Amino acid sequence: MVNLIAIVGTNSDKSTNRTLLEYMQKHFETQANIELVEIKDLPLFNKPDDKTLPDNAKALAEKIEAADGVIISTPEYDHSVPAALMNALSWLSYGVVPFVDKPVMITGASYGTLGSSRAQQHLRQILDAPELKARIMPSSEFLLSHSLQAFDGDGNLVDEENITLLNGLFADFLHFIEIMSQLNQAHAANKAHAENFSWDNQ
Ligand SMILES: Cc1cc2nc3c(=O)[nH]c(=O)nc-3n(C[C@H](O)[C@H](O)[C@H](O)COP(=O)(O)O)c2cc1C
Repeated sequence: MVNLIAIVGTNSDKSTNRTLLEYMQKHFETQANIELVEIKDLPLFNKPDDKTLPDNAKALAEKIEAADGVIISTPEYDHSVPAALMNALSWLSYGVVPFVDKPVMITGASYGTLGSSRAQQHLRQILDAPELKARIMPSSEFLLSHSLQAFDGDGNLVDEENITLLNGLFADFLHFIEIMSQLNQAHAANKAHAENFSWDNQ
């Protein structure tokens, strides 16, 4: 079975994105081990002189490095990703390169009608940065709009169309992981490039 890390893309204690990932963890438990990880205890990013990461950022990087794939669920704040998620990605691209060639599935939930579509577009762009360089599943979006009304009291998605779409996208993601494991001819070079890349030497 594949091992996936699911990043809760917010520091809010109450989050429909966390509910979505908890639902996926349970709903897909026969297909994948999904471990939810939190970003709320990471300190605010501020380039440490010696590139030493805080222990919790280092531990998160190690989990991502070891995983077969990553799911990131993002809320939408002011048409982009929350500062807490950007903060986590800054730590995860500073002196560590766990995302290089890592298969990533993006999901998102927001209270509005568009269900985090603009945040998801930004997240794709961010994950393409030279020190992140993830393999983002193409041409796929799971946009959970009106997310406050999307779950029942047990945290299950209520809309059958949403469930059908999520089932399909998750099945695709498992295939995507397999396919990406074959597209690995440039992995060593990509990793070396990301490791040696520095914005400080421009
Ligand atoms: C500062 C701020 C900006 C927001 N901007 C948007 C937005 O641009 N689009 C949107 O659909 N929802 C927006 N929202 C509502 C969020 O979708 C909602 O607060 C929530 O973060 C959804 O994710 P969560 O349940 O995981 O926290 C905003 C909320 C805040 C606090």
